[in-house]
Amino acid sequence: MKSLDDLKKIREKAQRKVTMRDKQDGTRILVGMATCGISAGARPVMNKFVEEIAERDIENITVTPVGCIGECAIEPIVEVLEGDKRTTYCKVDEDVAQRIIDEHILGGKIVKDNIIGKFRV
Ligand code: FES
Repeated sequence: MKSLDDLKKIREKAQRKVTMRDKQDGTRILVGMATCGISAGARPVMNKFVEEIAERDIENITVTPVGCIGECAIEPIVEVLEGDKRTTYCKVDEDVAQRIIDEHILGGKIVKDNIIGKFRV
């Protein structure tokens, strides 16, 4: 269990990591935060990314809330942009967000269980 001070420090670090949409360098994690995304659970997913990145001091990465891409049924949707490479994840919950950080961002391997191709062809 984290203390209130620990949580405040994580929050401050996290706020520095969430950036404006015009910042383009490094890896970008885009979290769909339209109405359907939020109702499907995008808010705790967004928080999970921000907290993990801040807590683990992962550099050169930003988390940005974005609108929808017209796929309500497979929200929450998260896109990871690395240069010109785009990976789209669907039905992301906090556990999948954790896997995206551990396996994709830090490990360099796409989390195949949740890529959009599993849900749409
Ligand atoms: S509101 Fe659901 S995809 Fe846009």
